[in-house]
Amino acid sequence: MKRIAVLTSGGDAPGMNAAIRAVVRTAISEGIEVLGVMRGFEGLIQGQFIPMTASSVSGIVNHGGTILKSARSVDFKTEDGQRKAVENLRQYEAEGLITIGGSGTSHGAHNLAADWHFPVVNCPSTIDNDVAGTDNTIGFYTAVSTALDAIDRIRDTATAYDRVFVVEVMGRDAGHLALYTGLAGGAEYILIPEIPYKLDDICENLLKGKKRGKMSNIIVVAEGAGDAAEIAKAINEKIKFESRYLVIGHLQRGGPPEAFDRILASRLGSAAVKLLLSGESDKMVGIEKNEITVHPIAYSWENKKNVDLSLFELAKILSS
Ligand code: F6P
Repeated sequence: MKRIAVLTSGGDAPGMNAAIRAVVRTAISEGIEVLGVMRGFEGLIQGQFIPMTASSVSGIVNHGGTILKSARSVDFKTEDGQRKAVENLRQYEAEGLITIGGSGTSHGAHNLAADWHFPVVNCPSTIDNDVAGTDNTIGFYTAVSTALDAIDRIRDTATAYDRVFVVEVMGRDAGHLALYTGLAGGAEYILIPEIPYKLDDICENLLKGKKRGKMSNIIVVAEGAGDAAEIAKAINEKIKFESRYLVIGHLQRGGPPEAFDRILASRLGSAAVKLLLSGESDKMVGIEKNEITVHPIAYSWENKKNVDLSLFELAKILSS
């Protein structure tokens, strides 16, 4: 292999830049040229390739977002879009591709490798942490810390006003982000899609708590488990416990990556290049028990990454 390409796709996550840097500099150290593809799979279709050097990735390890920009490409889901993408990769003489992204990205990467026989390795990166085959995705821990910072601040005002605060965090259909944020923030209730809950039970417990003198509460809700505004309204109406809500939203996607994510991204980006150069394709790199591991890309959706129920139980005990 003489030249490879790299792209970032789907929801950006803090640490993507550190992964791009690791890909570019590892490849260069192996004597391989690198092309950056702008805007993910959309850029592959549009032929948005840029040459990358060691200096194109200097000063980015500490920045969130992605210098290659990101997109969710509708056209790439079509056969024509994929054909065009592969034609462009060949025209630019790229012999392999490294994708950096979450579950949607994995599907696109697998399509290229399995259906079009183009060598691809994926680095899992999403704040949702919903990718099997890796304990952590790039960006997850930074997003937890960002949401946690919001919760710490909300706790101050919740306590001052004896209020319930319902805080909604991202995570798509998964509760990892809500669970970690709730546990770290000492939330009284954590609502995640994986564990059914009844609002009536929560209201009853809030009232019981009030009788014991617990005048403020934080409820962390995963976006896949409910709507913070509706939950707060229901609590106001059902038990007249004054409630407010906060949707943290895209704030969780930005900001400087934490040390953990920078190191993870550096390790995974570098491992992805080495895997591609060794002739492997249709694979993902991951980190399991602090070791770099390799799985077929499809492993990431054929296996469900369950939330850690022991953490949920722990959070319940610690917040009671
Ligand atoms: O997958 C990352 C993520 O931030 C999810 O947590 C969220 O549901 C989604 O992306 C939001 O997507 P968009 O930025 O397209 O609104």
